[in-house]
Amino acid sequence: MDKIRIVGEKRLSGQVEVSGAKNAALPILISSLLSEKECRFDRVPDLQDIRTTLKVLRHLGVSSKVVGSTVTLNGQSIASTEAPYDLVRTMRASVWVLGPLLARMGHAKVSLPGGCAIGARPINFHLEGLKKLGAQIELENGYVVAKANRLQGARVAFEFPSVGATANLMMAATLAKGETVLEGCAKEPEMTDLGNALKAMGAQIEGHGSDVIRIQGKDSLSGCHHPIMGDRIEAGTYLASAVLTQGDVKVLGISPDALEAVLVQFEQIGAVVERDLKGLSIRLQMKQRPQATNLTTLPFPGFPTDMQAQMMAVLCLASGTSTVRETIFENRFMHVPELLRLGADIQVKGNTAVIRGVESFTGAPLMATDLRASASLILGGLAAKGETIVNRVYHLDRGYEKLETKFKALGAEIERIA
Ligand code: UD1
Repeated sequence: MDKIRIVGEKRLSGQVEVSGAKNAALPILISSLLSEKECRFDRVPDLQDIRTTLKVLRHLGVSSKVVGSTVTLNGQSIASTEAPYDLVRTMRASVWVLGPLLARMGHAKVSLPGGCAIGARPINFHLEGLKKLGAQIELENGYVVAKANRLQGARVAFEFPSVGATANLMMAATLAKGETVLEGCAKEPEMTDLGNALKAMGAQIEGHGSDVIRIQGKDSLSGCHHPIMGDRIEAGTYLASAVLTQGDVKVLGISPDALEAVLVQFEQIGAVVERDLKGLSIRLQMKQRPQATNLTTLPFPGFPTDMQAQMMAVLCLASGTSTVRETIFENRFMHVPELLRLGADIQVKGNTAVIRGVESFTGAPLMATDLRASASLILGGLAAKGETIVNRVYHLDRGYEKLETKFKALGAEIERIA
């Protein structure tokens, strides 16, 4: 199994081009199920989760052609409306096929995704929302079996701004009869991108990226050509590496607005951040040891849970005591025991981690547990004295394109070993 070997304490500097956002690409590729016409998407990252999505789509009858980072999908003839356990269990986001299949084909059978390392992750908001649009939903042998003659527009108010439920309902409502009003929606930039992609397919949507999304259902959608937005979490991870190595890194191809809550925290701990809103880039310079801070993960525009682990790696080396409160997922501190192996001082009480800053990390063998936890271990290794080996890097391959190549270009000593 692949491992990543890092020799740390190299100051990172230079520019890095951000890839397309995984969490925007996944629902956008899946939205091709809504149309009989060809949909072309640019800047699709080459990641394990994308390959899994294309596999799921192929299973359902959507043909795909991948040329570089351009993916062309054709959903003219849907061959199956069933997403089996074997496909869904490897990637929870497969549950997004439910809304589009139901809306276009009138039925869908999708395996319940089950829990994952970061928590239980139920899909009750997805199912309750689809029921409001008129779907009949049964749970049978671990599968969600959903039926509807034609979905009917309705008002759906989410209890919590769930990214997954917002995406599923947004997609489903584009083909429902009449108007759907979604309230309490997730405002994450990836939801704005999904809304824009659906609009490019001819859907009538407004308000995506805000609390309230209004959708006038259509009888059918057209083809489209849409470029995927830049990955804000990938961008934040490279900027964090500059903080940790007292470096100077510019990330290209990312809207600073998408990452504002993270940039504010970087400034809070002493980094100099330059935002280029027109040129879509962010430069971060760090000249001294970071200072401690307190942060809480929240839905967008708050601090993203997907940057929590990376920020914790940074705060482990800050001067003073920091706190990190995780409010989105119940079990998202699996990186803590691994960071302790590098010499960190962290105590977890419930959903809060108290981090007493230490002067330095010492390299160690580490075990990756989930995608963003793995990124924090890579960051830890980049700052640590000597050699760090990160095991189980397949977690990283789900979300970071060309990670070693990109870090190497910034001056890191990093390689993949068998
Ligand atoms: C998405 C992202 C993930 C990110 C998360 C929060 C993708 C592929 N994944 O995950 O990277 O960390 O948003 O920004 O885009 N919940 C329920 N019932 C539901 C749905 C959600 O209780 O039906 C709860 C979850 O358990 C969690 C919270 O709501 O505690 C947020 O979940 P949600 O926003 O839906 O996250 P995901 O879509 O799973």
